Amino acid sequence: MNNKVSSLLDKDWIIIINYTKIITKKMHKNKHGIYIYSEDAYQGIKKACNLASKTLDMIGQFIEPGITTEELDKKCHDFIVAHNSVPATLGYRGYPKSCCISLNHVVCHGIPGRKKLKNGDILNIDVTCILEGWYGDTSRMFTVGDISLKSKRLIEITYDALQLAIKNVTPGNTFGDIGAVIQEYVEKNKMSVVRDFCGHGIGSEFHQAPNVLHYGSHGSGPRLETGMCFTIEPMVNIGRPETKILSDNWTAVTRDKSLSAQFEHTLFVRKEGCEVLTNSFNDTYFPRGAKLHRNSA
Ligand code: MF3
Ligand code: CO
Ligand code: CO
Repeated sequence: MNNKVSSLLDKDWIIIINYTKIITKKMHKNKHGIYIYSEDAYQGIKKACNLASKTLDMIGQFIEPGITTEELDKKCHDFIVAHNSVPATLGYRGYPKSCCISLNHVVCHGIPGRKKLKNGDILNIDVTCILEGWYGDTSRMFTVGDISLKSKRLIEITYDALQLAIKNVTPGNTFGDIGAVIQEYVEKNKMSVVRDFCGHGIGSEFHQAPNVLHYGSHGSGPRLETGMCFTIEPMVNIGRPETKILSDNWTAVTRDKSLSAQFEHTLFVRKEGCEVLTNSFNDTYFPRGAKLHRNSA
């Protein structure tokens, strides 16, 4: 072997060893198979999360009657790609678009298409970014023009349920506690929690252990630990909780056609409490400012 070739091989070998070291330091699994992430991993995940929330901050200005959901998808796609990131949903298990847009009675996984937004619509846009191998996942509600009082209430209850859940994310509490506080709050307000979809561990992959249920009983499930990273993403219906999947094999709708809302954050568990990694940078996500139809029920 000549010198040139051997020094090239030496160099590659060192890179591989370093790479292995870095990877093994970034995370480990606890006894439940849930990843505990290092500060290094946290930094990576946070960047992906920040880009996902900036994408939603960006899209808000385009929400108006007449725009199609696929035009909104294209804007999200271009924004994500322009920031050296990849939309995680594109090609995920055959999913064809760069975000999910779920209108009115669509619970989740609505596929952007030719449908135009119209006055009074409510919609969730859900974006997941992959940045330098790390994942960040978030969704918010948007409103078109003037919405009904019942739509506004649904959005507020869903938002508040997520905020309440986040307050309960602290080491020592269990995943069951998270589900329980969401279910209690939503049902106290005479709405229902969707059972067919849940939050999830996230970080080095899109979906990992555990399933984060939005209903359940206090004290059940694994305990939260510092370094865990997961989403909470409650879907709340005005009517009954049951859903069905349309023939596109993705779009989930309420069986009773009642309106549905959802908010999603990615969270990182800290020594005390947790850090929300997907907060808005311009506060556009808070729906209380939505305008109401006059005389709406
Ligand atoms: N972002 C969704 C979630 O919150 C998952 C969408 S998967 C897709 O977990 F394939 F439907 F896009
Ligand atoms: Co998610
Ligand atoms: Co999501």
